[in-house]
Amino acid sequence: MQTLKLTNSKQDIATAGKLLKDGELVAIPTETVYGLAADALNGEAVANIFKAKGRPMDNPLIVHIADLSQVDDLVAFVPPVLEDLAKAFWPGPLTVILEKSDLIPDEVSAGLDTVAIRMPSHPDARAIIKAAGTPLAAPSANTSGMPSPTTAAHVLHDMDGKIAAVVDGGPCEVGVESTVLTLCTRVPRILRPGRVTPEDLFDVLGEVEVDDAVLGQLAEGAVAASPGMKYKHYSPKAEVYIVDGSAEGFAKYVNEKVAERAADEAAVAALVFDGEEDLVNCVTLPFGAEDDSLGQAEHLFDDLRRADELGVSDIYVRCPSAEGVGLAVMNRLLRAAEFRIIEVD
Ligand code: TXA
Ligand code: MG
Repeated sequence: MQTLKLTNSKQDIATAGKLLKDGELVAIPTETVYGLAADALNGEAVANIFKAKGRPMDNPLIVHIADLSQVDDLVAFVPPVLEDLAKAFWPGPLTVILEKSDLIPDEVSAGLDTVAIRMPSHPDARAIIKAAGTPLAAPSANTSGMPSPTTAAHVLHDMDGKIAAVVDGGPCEVGVESTVLTLCTRVPRILRPGRVTPEDLFDVLGEVEVDDAVLGQLAEGAVAASPGMKYKHYSPKAEVYIVDGSAEGFAKYVNEKVAERAADEAAVAALVFDGEEDLVNCVTLPFGAEDDSLGQAEHLFDDLRRADELGVSDIYVRCPSAEGVGLAVMNRLLRAAEFRIIEVD
């Protein structure tokens, strides 16, 4: 299949809308990461998303809407608190899980009786949903397990030849996927952290829990509240290690590793904070200032993909703060690193 490279011109957005209405797969920009979209009400089209990504069928998808009025048909009932959340965070990087209506195909909900819904703030995403005239089911547009794509080039790297089109709307502003909040527990619970922080949600809801799986490793055999949490995720091909400690401790540890692999020049890369480019004796990729979780979120996936392109076998990452948006950065890194954290001085 030839993958059409579309711009975000009016004409190209109309083309994307028509392809989607016809049951094709189109990768679309959102403010978080690029999504691989299909008509959410067309089970056959949605099934093709799983094939293109190599995604396990038991991992449900997020349904993207352009207007609040679209929610009614998709859910069994609208809890009053949704209005408060929508007022505060929609359009934007918050996904809400509600009890689903019969309109939602099993392919979208992966057999659960709930559905995840979000209204993206990216103007191109909303224009495409409107052009398609239907809500769009869209997971991140990466091959399953790879870091999520934050540019159209990342999408093409993974999906060229497998999907009908990609719409280039420029690099994503947030850089990590939306916050996933379930309203199906007694106290609303964050299943995946993102740009909308626990503090932001607390301010609106007055109570919110963070699921244990956000920073913890799911116990063997445990049932994931969000099926996506049980899969290896965000992983480049290289092995990722988080190194927690001072800049000096990090440098000492990584330089020892570099020395051990001296014969193998391209063996090691380091993800460091801005200004630390000369900290270690290997390739460094700065992923944001130490105190700038937003900046780190924006660059993390791109840096992991870049490190992979260098062909290194090990990536050492400076341990970021897990406060505020940092919780999302740490959540993605822990999965990329398969929970390997090395403590240094
Ligand atoms: O920012 C985002 O959310 C991006 C853009 C494209 O909107 N989408 C995205 O989709 O990250 P995906 O499929 O990569 O991640 C969706 C997450 C998965 O962890 C999935 O298990 C969870 O949301 N999820 C979806 N529906 C769910 C449901 N009904 N119950 C629990 N978890 C659900
Ligand atoms: Mg994903």
